[in-house]
Amino acid sequence: MTMKNLEGDNMSDRISEVLQTAAHNLELRKSSSQSIARMHEQGGALAPIQLEQRRMIHREESVRQQSDAFREIRTRLLAMGGHENFVTLVVAVSPHSGSSFVARNLAAAFAFDEAKTSLLIDCNVRYPNQHKVMGVEPTHGGLIDLMDHPAIGIESIIYHTGVPHLRLIPAGKSRESGSEYFTSHRMRAVIDSLRSRYADRYLFLDGPAIKGAPDARILADLADFVVVVAGYGKDTPGAISQALSHFEPNKLAGVVFNQAP
Ligand SMILES: Nc1ncnc2c1ncn2[C@@H]1O[C@H](COP(=O)(O)OP(=O)(O)O)[C@@H](O)[C@H]1O
Ligand SMILES: [Mg+2]
Repeated sequence: MTMKNLEGDNMSDRISEVLQTAAHNLELRKSSSQSIARMHEQGGALAPIQLEQRRMIHREESVRQQSDAFREIRTRLLAMGGHENFVTLVVAVSPHSGSSFVARNLAAAFAFDEAKTSLLIDCNVRYPNQHKVMGVEPTHGGLIDLMDHPAIGIESIIYHTGVPHLRLIPAGKSRESGSEYFTSHRMRAVIDSLRSRYADRYLFLDGPAIKGAPDARILADLADFVVVVAGYGKDTPGAISQALSHFEPNKLAGVVFNQAP
């Protein structure tokens, strides 16, 4: 798995200039005075073997290459984001390229940093899968349930994952499309409140593939940065550029070329 810098060979210099503008804009955002969140962990942390079953990185040498790749993306996002916590949307060019895999592990890479916490939000309302892969039982519902019934309260749909500092908001009841939710003021208010509650909390939106549905593009409006996942040897350069054209250049953090099994 490799992260392709957008300044790379096939992208114009214009984009690298806009990337710097994005980082600058974020620096300008008013700085938060919230103290670092120290979350209480329930139960023990998962063992490396359990993490591998969940297709997740850990700190052992055996997965070093992958964890380094995710740390690299983390470094890049942090360089763009400056001193503020931010919202990153992860979307695939086409289904099954591994965007949920990348979103989950990127969130884990942020959680590895003791000074940060991360919150993964499953926004693939049609095919929600993070709770299944991560072995989380969404007993109090998820994002869609909160949109339908705000009285549930945000806190009750934030679940522990067995990975210290990493929480999950499952998608909840599945729907054909999330467009009407994602454009709503309520959704924006939920994201803003999740982001501003803890200054050290980084949000990751796991979106549906760009191809064939408007949700990914709509979700990009809620995010500071977009990471696009391309299936290595599967998505053609044409399909990748087409996918990238849907997003504001100043939000694009890069393209991850992932080889799904
Ligand atoms: N680099 C990888 N290494 C191991 N497993 C992977 C990798 N990329 C994807 N997978 C697995 O492939 C399957 C499809 O990936 P997923 O992230 O669900 O794709 P998408 O969200 O793009 O549809 C999942 O079972 C996922 O765990
Ligand atoms: Mg997915």
